[in-house]
Amino acid sequence: MIDGKRILLIIAGGIAAYRSLDVIRRLRERGADVRCVLTKGGAQFVTPLSVAALSENKVYQDLFSLTDEAEMGHIRLSREADLVVVCPASADLLGKMANGLADDLASTALLATDKPVMVCPTMNVMMWQHPATQANMLTLEARGVLRVGPGAGNLACGEVGTGRLAEVMDIVAAVEGYFAEEASPKPLAGRHAIVTSGPTWEAIDPVRYIANRSSGKQGHAIAAALAKLGARTTLVSGTTNMPDPAGVDVVRIESARQMYDACHAALPADIAVCAAAVADWRVDLDTDKKIKKSADGPPPLPLVENPDILASLGQLAANARPRLIVGFAAETGNVVEYARAKLGRKGCNWIVANDVSPGTGTFGGDDNTVHLVSADAVEEWPRMRKDEVAGRLADRIAAALAGAAE
Ligand code: C5P
Repeated sequence: MIDGKRILLIIAGGIAAYRSLDVIRRLRERGADVRCVLTKGGAQFVTPLSVAALSENKVYQDLFSLTDEAEMGHIRLSREADLVVVCPASADLLGKMANGLADDLASTALLATDKPVMVCPTMNVMMWQHPATQANMLTLEARGVLRVGPGAGNLACGEVGTGRLAEVMDIVAAVEGYFAEEASPKPLAGRHAIVTSGPTWEAIDPVRYIANRSSGKQGHAIAAALAKLGARTTLVSGTTNMPDPAGVDVVRIESARQMYDACHAALPADIAVCAAAVADWRVDLDTDKKIKKSADGPPPLPLVENPDILASLGQLAANARPRLIVGFAAETGNVVEYARAKLGRKGCNWIVANDVSPGTGTFGGDDNTVHLVSADAVEEWPRMRKDEVAGRLADRIAAALAGAAE
């Protein structure tokens, strides 16, 4: 339902700007209040008069217009919306947004807003594929900016490829989807979740370290999924290339001992999901001094055991222990059997067990095939994307906490 919702529509330059008129019409039909900002580029393609007529609102164009600033400054304009939609979003405006530039009304409103932003990019295929545009888009999405399109097909410039503005009804559906999601129940509201993710780095000396191949994809996706269900989520992450998930507090660490400390500092929590690939051992040397090459050959690297973070949480006294603790088991065979044994040993409630044998593509890949193992059941989940595994796990966690006695 978008009836009564206030949408600030920013129309940037591009041949597809004329389709923003239809977007305005469809949003208005559904009862939304639409206020429009027209950039200089946008005004080359649609007139302020048609935008005003369709939106039945004043159109804002100038950052330094005395009347606009007197009636409604750009700050208020950007705050008095429930959602800011940029349609069409040009490569230029995406670049400004990603880099915090604010040299006109549109970019200033986008920098000043405290509301969610949805962009509908459209541009030439080479512009879209350019590493600069892709990097800008990645930055924006990591900050929680929502994106609709672009689609593929014939482009206005005569070339063929990805860069077409999404279909008007898909844009409207995305706006409706956003408000539906926002209104959806948040079963984990009021709960605190700690999630560990990524590899740990164990120093050998100031220059070298022992690490592993964990990408952090699964752990980060779980943090995002728990946050989406309303949990205050603390993500304790080793070094990864993953962007911070929107709405999650991220604590960055390198070593297992730092991860242990960060997890315990984040307590109390209702939920703990330990998805990190924690090194079992660290080097038992003075790691402040670089090891020199020597004629005696390679140095011995004495190892000592790292603290087991998952087990340490499971062993907490009942009043301090997160109510639901989920561990991961990455094995290369006998997955369920080992997971069962791990449940007891680590004192956790569930184990998500997966096969990381070479060829499964689990490490670093986008898909995962897991078993959810609890004390009394084993569920085999079909192969799915890691974000789908995360969503399903978050739903199961919410259901388990809702069912558990307070
Ligand atoms: O014993 P193993 O390393 O196979 O157990 C894997 C599970 O234990 C994962 O959930 C991992 O995050 C967690 N773990 C941990 N601290 C360690 C080792 C593993 O939290 N030192």
